[in-house]
Amino acid sequence: MKSVTIEPVVSGFELECSDIAPDKSISHRCAMFSLLSDRVSNIKNYLMGEDTLSSLKIAKSLGAKITIKDSDVTIVPPLKLSEPDDILDCGNAGTGMRLYCGLLCGVDGSFVLTGDKYLRARPMKRVVQPLRDIGAKIDGRQNGNLAPLHIRGGDLKPFRYHSPIDSAQVKSALILAALKAEDKSYYKENLLSRDHTERMLRGMGAQIKSVEDGYIEIIPLSKPLDPLNITVPADPSSAFFFAVAATIVPNSYIKLVNLTLNPTRVEAFRVLKQMGADIEFIEKENIYEPIGDITVRYNGKLQGVTVDSNIAWLIDELPALSIAMATAEGVSEVKNAKELRVKESDRISSVVTALRSCGIECSENEDGYLITGGKLQKATVDSFGDHRIAMSFAIAGLLCGMDIVDIECIDTSFPNFFEILSQITEVKYAD
Ligand code: S3P
Repeated sequence: MKSVTIEPVVSGFELECSDIAPDKSISHRCAMFSLLSDRVSNIKNYLMGEDTLSSLKIAKSLGAKITIKDSDVTIVPPLKLSEPDDILDCGNAGTGMRLYCGLLCGVDGSFVLTGDKYLRARPMKRVVQPLRDIGAKIDGRQNGNLAPLHIRGGDLKPFRYHSPIDSAQVKSALILAALKAEDKSYYKENLLSRDHTERMLRGMGAQIKSVEDGYIEIIPLSKPLDPLNITVPADPSSAFFFAVAATIVPNSYIKLVNLTLNPTRVEAFRVLKQMGADIEFIEKENIYEPIGDITVRYNGKLQGVTVDSNIAWLIDELPALSIAMATAEGVSEVKNAKELRVKESDRISSVVTALRSCGIECSENEDGYLITGGKLQKATVDSFGDHRIAMSFAIAGLLCGMDIVDIECIDTSFPNFFEILSQITEVKYAD
């Protein structure tokens, strides 16, 4: 297990950062959606993280020919997806497992999806049940809730489904299944979750549109889709660690370049702004999604905040936001965020445990936590195998120093995180 020591900064920093990791959600979708075309997809700036490499490897096991040159990927889809001769390993990626479930349950053949010990402990019923309800044959441990999952692909019925959770993974799995169903299907969620699937599939020629009562209508594919030609923008969830850094280290400024500015992805930056940070959004182009830069300038002490709405729009950024909350004036609260309990770790428990070890007063609720702003102190923090916990507390270390144990998980989403961090402070790896 590798650990790292982060030294406190000696002074504020000014940085223009154009090498934030490419977007994880979009990269996964590129690997999978290219399989729905009959022509070559060209993807530039694909995330070379463990999670998204697992999705590419699965595409290859299903018959795609994949060429990787630096971060550019060419995917030649097979004429027909083939039954793999081994299990399909999603690694640590919930997005990989849940979306492949939706994609494969309509494909002829037998498929086994598995993952690492953390992914094998995460709930899959949220996709397995609605897919079973439309005829998918999926089984796994705990009656299909836990991977390894076995899928026997076959015919799927059209559906009208109002999801009880606002989850882009559930929505995407159901959309992928709907593309193979016998007739048009309808899907509804209470809050629009990240909509990369709808945007990208529409861009490839799929017919997915909003209809009455908040439903989207999905028409099954009658022919293969157009291929993808895309440059993956940088990941706002990864960029957010450095946005927090610039708001807690006095006299700092950062320009985060070429991020997706999709409104379902930048809510955490808006909350940081509400806490008093000086943040600007500069939209530059629109290719499938709005893309542009975000600048963040230190603006004095942050103010405590309550976060209880639009949770799906900032769920991945809550661990990093907890560091901003820990330095803010007064009490901050996160509510309605029970979903945090089933992420790469139980993030309510991980955040509260780690902040307490840094001397911050906090209390844990079933659906969130309360954090009383104070002075962060150096501690030894366990990542719990969760990349976002490891990176959040590395950022806290800029103020007080930090030892972080079990940092390998960072490679799932942000392999060059420490390279960027070492432009701000000293990072020492333990042997
Ligand atoms: C993702 C959706 C979100 C998010 C995850 C990526 C996606 O999960 O937390 O990191 O790419 O669709 P849920 O759909 O479970 O909320």
